[in-house]
Amino acid sequence: MGRLDNKVALITGAGGGFGRTMSVVFAREGARIFAVDRDEDRARETAEAVAKAGGDVRAIRTDVTSKEEIASLLKMIESESSQLDILINNAAITQREDFRHTTDEQWQEILDVNLTAAMRLSRDGLSLLKVSGKSSIINLSSIMARVHVRQLSAYSMTKAALAGMSRAMAVEYAAFNVRVNYLCPGYAETAMTDRILRNPAVRKGLLDRTPLNRFAAPEDIAHAALFLASDEAAFITGEGLTVDGGMSIQL
Ligand SMILES: NC(=O)c1ccc[n+]([C@@H]2O[C@H](COP(=O)([O-])OP(=O)(O)OC[C@H]3O[C@@H](n4cnc5c(N)ncnc54)[C@H](O)[C@@H]3O)[C@@H](O)[C@H]2O)c1
Repeated sequence: MGRLDNKVALITGAGGGFGRTMSVVFAREGARIFAVDRDEDRARETAEAVAKAGGDVRAIRTDVTSKEEIASLLKMIESESSQLDILINNAAITQREDFRHTTDEQWQEILDVNLTAAMRLSRDGLSLLKVSGKSSIINLSSIMARVHVRQLSAYSMTKAALAGMSRAMAVEYAAFNVRVNYLCPGYAETAMTDRILRNPAVRKGLLDRTPLNRFAAPEDIAHAALFLASDEAAFITGEGLTVDGGMSIQL
C-alpha cells in the first residue's frame, strides 16, 4: 500500500530538479500525477520517468503565469479526475540583480511566476481541492525567505511572501480540510543553481557553512514533501519545514 494511494497530485515546474523527483516519488507512493511545466519536452521527460517507475502520469505544457492556461489546466483536471488532493506550487525562476537596480519588468516577472501563479492555482483550485476532505497544498519557499544572499532580493521577497501566504491560507482553508504548508530547501544542485555552483570557491564556501556538509538531493526535498502531502501529516498546517542540512541555523 502506498502513502498516497487514491490521491491526485498537480505538480508545477515538474520538468525541473525537484518537480521531477517529486513526481516520481509521489507516483511510486500511489498518486496520480499531473506534471506541469512550461517546457513541454521537460514535462514529457518527467512523464517518461514516472511511467518507467510504474506510475500514472499526464504531462501538460502550461505556463503558470497565464490566467487562461491555469483555467484550462484546472478544467482538464476536473474533467479527467474530478478531484485534486495535492497541489505543489513548485515552478519558480531566479534573478540576479541588486535591489536598487531591479526594473519594474524584472519585478513583475518574478512576482508572476513565483507568487501570483501559486496564489491563482490555490485560489481557483479550491473547488477541486475540497472534494476529498483531506487534501493539501505545499508551496516551495526557500531558506532565502529568512536569510539573504546579495543580488537575490526579489527572489527572497517572493519566497518570504509564499511563507506568509501559506500561513494565511492555512487559517482560511482549514474550514475545507485543506492543509497548507511550505518547504524551505537549502542549496541543491539543479538547473536553477547550476551556474552559481559551478564556481569552486562558491561551492566550498557553501559546503563549509552547511553542518551536514553536502547540497540537498532532490530526494531530500521530495521526501519532505511526501510527508507533508501524506495523511501522516494530517494535523500539520501553516508550517514551514526547513530542509537545508543545518545551513540556516549556523552563524
Ligand atoms: N535548487 C535549489 O537550490 C532551491 C533551493 C531552495 C528553493 N528552491 C525552490 O524549489 C523549487 C524548484 O526548484 P528547482 O531547483 O527544481 O528549479 P529548476 O529550475 O530545476 O526547475 C524549475 C522548473 O519550473 C519551470 N517553470 C519556470 N517558470 C515556469 C512557468 N512560468 N510555468 C511553468 N513552469 C515554469 C521550469 O521550466 C523548470 O522546469 C523552486 O520554487 C525553487 O525556488 C530551489
